[in-house]
Amino acid sequence: MAVKTLQDLLDEGVDGRYVLVRSDFNVPLDDNGVITDPGRITASLPTLKALAEGGAKVVVMAHLGRPKGEVNPKFSLAPVAEALSDALGQYVALASDVVGEDAHERANGLTEGDVLLLENVRFDPRETSKDEAERGEFADQLVALVPDGVFVSDGFGVVHRAQASVYDVAQRLPHYAGKLVGKEIDVLKKVAEQPAQPYVVVLGGSKVSDKLGVIEALSTKADKLIIGGGMCYTFLAAQGYNVQKSLLQEEMIDTCKDLLARHGDKIVLPVDLVAAETFAADAANQVVALDAIPEGWMSLDIGPKSVELFAETLNSAKTVFWNGPMGVFEFPAFAAGTRGVAQAIIDATAQGCFSVVGGGDSAASVRVLGLDEEGFSHISTGGGASLEYLEGKQLPGVAVLAS
Ligand code: 3PG
Repeated sequence: MAVKTLQDLLDEGVDGRYVLVRSDFNVPLDDNGVITDPGRITASLPTLKALAEGGAKVVVMAHLGRPKGEVNPKFSLAPVAEALSDALGQYVALASDVVGEDAHERANGLTEGDVLLLENVRFDPRETSKDEAERGEFADQLVALVPDGVFVSDGFGVVHRAQASVYDVAQRLPHYAGKLVGKEIDVLKKVAEQPAQPYVVVLGGSKVSDKLGVIEALSTKADKLIIGGGMCYTFLAAQGYNVQKSLLQEEMIDTCKDLLARHGDKIVLPVDLVAAETFAADAANQVVALDAIPEGWMSLDIGPKSVELFAETLNSAKTVFWNGPMGVFEFPAFAAGTRGVAQAIIDATAQGCFSVVGGGDSAASVRVLGLDEEGFSHISTGGGASLEYLEGKQLPGVAVLAS
């Protein structure tokens, strides 16, 4: 069955109808609970605005962090409700619970064009339960908030999760793909199915194990796989370097050896590093060769020669997919690698390359480092979701929309 889109729903008319929307508002917060990157909120606006302008009574579901099924004020969506009100230009009320009395009262009281945000759906353990009946019971309660309502799936960042507010509600209501989900899938489809060549993939982030599937899948499709960030140290260890206290997944060293043996011609690793005495913003640091990390130090960024090498590889690319920062960009002393690679992708894009930033920390780094967002062809809101899509996995929250 073809997936129905938000436009189909708007064409049917939403005036006075309840619409249950799943958005992804899993935004990074600092220690004071202040949102450090509102990218996912901004990306949710086109769908929410269109529904509110169409006169719908909009009830939004979202999660923040992993509160493990318990109510925890640290993971409250209160900062999101405030930021969303500002961004939408209309007051967005936050229910103090998810499917409780307050949610019901507020949902009942909605009038045309109002937007209500439910509290963090992950405050209820049934949201992420592996037990379908438990999730189903929770989904029934969510659906009960929107009499004769419909469901719009717009939380692209979470469509790889078979969770109640993503998957099970779609089985219970007429469902539509929101603007964001539609746009993200179109872009990723282009990268997955017809990447113009040379196709260069840049991977960073902390764990090799998280990226193994995508490395395997892309090593046949991509022309080059640039590997930096926390995961590169396990590859360097596989090449015999002593990475000292740098991030290392020892149990993955053999896997990295195997990947290098099979795809060594495509994998591009750093050639120098920025080593630090401790993991701190003001740590003593120096640029070192791969075999010269001082004893007991750790590498927190790729070095300038690595940036040059990666930029050369990116220079001729016609398609780039980038997921994961090159170093601890949150500390200015260790941000040059991520900044340099991002700039190289922006330069390639200016020469006609189609570039996609794959969500999570890499998308945040673009904004936190003050880089030009418009310099990339697309900045995805999905970290895990975009990786799983490129890996060729079925995304439950997308598959269910076609049923
Ligand atoms: C994300 O941040 O990638 C999404 O919001 C999904 O969050 P999760 O990994 O906690 O399921």
